[in-house]
Amino acid sequence: MDIDEKKIVDIEEEIRSLQLDSADTTEMIDEIAQHEELEKVDKMEEDSKEVVHNQAVEVEKKVKEKENSALDDEAAFEKELPKKRHLNVVFIGHVDAGKSTTGGQILFLSGQVDDRTIQKYEKEAKDKSRESWYMAYIMDTNEEERVKGKTVEVGRAHFETEMTRFTILDAPGHKSYVPNMISGASQADVGVLVISARKGEFETGYERGGQTREHVQLAKTLGVSKLLVVVNKMDDPTVNWSKERYDEIESKMTPFLKLSGYNVKKDVQFLPISGLIGTNMKTRVDKSVCSWWGGPCLFEALDATEIPQRDPKGPFRMPIIDKFKDMGTVVMGKVESGSVREGDSMVVMPNKAHVKVLAVFCDEDKVKRAGPGENVRVRLSGVEEEDILSGFVLSSISRPIPSVSEFEAQLQILELLDNAIFTAGYKAVLHIHAVVEECEIVELLQQIDPKTKKPMKRKVLFVKNGAFVVCRVQVNNLICIEKFSDFPQLGRFTLRTEGKTVAVGKVTGLNLSSA
Ligand code: GTP
Ligand code: MG
Repeated sequence: MDIDEKKIVDIEEEIRSLQLDSADTTEMIDEIAQHEELEKVDKMEEDSKEVVHNQAVEVEKKVKEKENSALDDEAAFEKELPKKRHLNVVFIGHVDAGKSTTGGQILFLSGQVDDRTIQKYEKEAKDKSRESWYMAYIMDTNEEERVKGKTVEVGRAHFETEMTRFTILDAPGHKSYVPNMISGASQADVGVLVISARKGEFETGYERGGQTREHVQLAKTLGVSKLLVVVNKMDDPTVNWSKERYDEIESKMTPFLKLSGYNVKKDVQFLPISGLIGTNMKTRVDKSVCSWWGGPCLFEALDATEIPQRDPKGPFRMPIIDKFKDMGTVVMGKVESGSVREGDSMVVMPNKAHVKVLAVFCDEDKVKRAGPGENVRVRLSGVEEEDILSGFVLSSISRPIPSVSEFEAQLQILELLDNAIFTAGYKAVLHIHAVVEECEIVELLQQIDPKTKKPMKRKVLFVKNGAFVVCRVQVNNLICIEKFSDFPQLGRFTLRTEGKTVAVGKVTGLNLSSA
């Protein structure tokens, strides 16, 4: 182990604490939800008793009608409330690893795509001399993506298993589109890291500069707390379901995943698949194909993934990732905290536009309410589409999200370009939830000793790769962010320069007077 590697191992613990998993309050939230559910049932029972009691009187008949319709509404609402749990899954990994193919296959196997469509794609792919890409065409919907065989925009789709509704986010693997991958990963709870087992392909993805590494680091920083590592293309003639190849990939990936802050025992699961053929996906691989695999198939593994912490009672926060005009202004994003209901009054931050919620859509369906973790579209009145930018946040009026142009952060420097030094005046692109903004480090406040985790005494003027440093960061425009300790998902970020991720960090303080 050379000195650099040793240093990296030493700070492994620190990365964990920086990339922090917050306490697991899932159970508590489940309990609150159950309690609310019980209260609701009680209330409905009481209401219906009252209705029966009022039947005799004419005037009260009207009341009854009204109440009945309210009950119908409530019942319809209950029906509309998704019964299944919901998970957002992002597919990440090096270019051509098979993310779109695997995503497409999932949709096919779960009955979202019929045989005729597949045949149509097969023909289209053949016409474009991309025969083997037909499954990827399910996710790669635009012409550029299909011609080049590369995902550009994050593809979105939905499917269900018996236990869970899933939103799939199919990220691009190409290094030019890392910002799109960041936006996809920032909306996800769980990541499926797709790795190609084909000879040479695992190696290129895993090299320094390969996106297998970059995506893992970004995913962890962006709050993707669990990873399923699918070793794909097991059917390829260079692999042929070889246990040796699978074990080699698992043993090389494991230390790297640890280094990136994942608790491999608790938060990571490996499994072999063929996305193209659909093996070990909906049903377990047949022993005649792969005698040595005794673990789960992909659907089982996804179904067994725990739901992350969510707070349905928190102040409403939904970072806007996209918007368009459709009988009002429609904004899209993932609810990070609180709930949204038709008829709610809200505010779009930072421009403080007061808006009314006209409709809420979950997947393809109109719903009356959506809670945290849901990927939704919300139709608003009171704001023009052109007055909204991605990175703005739909927010509760009573506790709107803060907007600032300066904040304090704890950063971990990963890899500076050409081993440059990191000092006041350093400029980079800040990615935080859906925000992408130029930023400047205006002051280094303290360096943190990776060993003792304590601030170092001496004044810090510059730091190098691997350092932990607290600094002041400025942006030109107001951005809506939170302290990491309050809302992890809205307080963790990455810094990139010239298309490379140079640092990851968490917001530790907001300069509210900078708003
Ligand atoms: P980007 O979106 O560009 O990052 O690529 P991707 O990871 O989405 O890969 P994509 O699904 O487009 O597949 C790339 C190539 O790998 C295509 O030719 C696929 O047919 C092939 N491929 C994907 N999965 C498998 C597999 O399980 N087995 C084999 N043999 N080939 C596969
Ligand atoms: Mg793709």
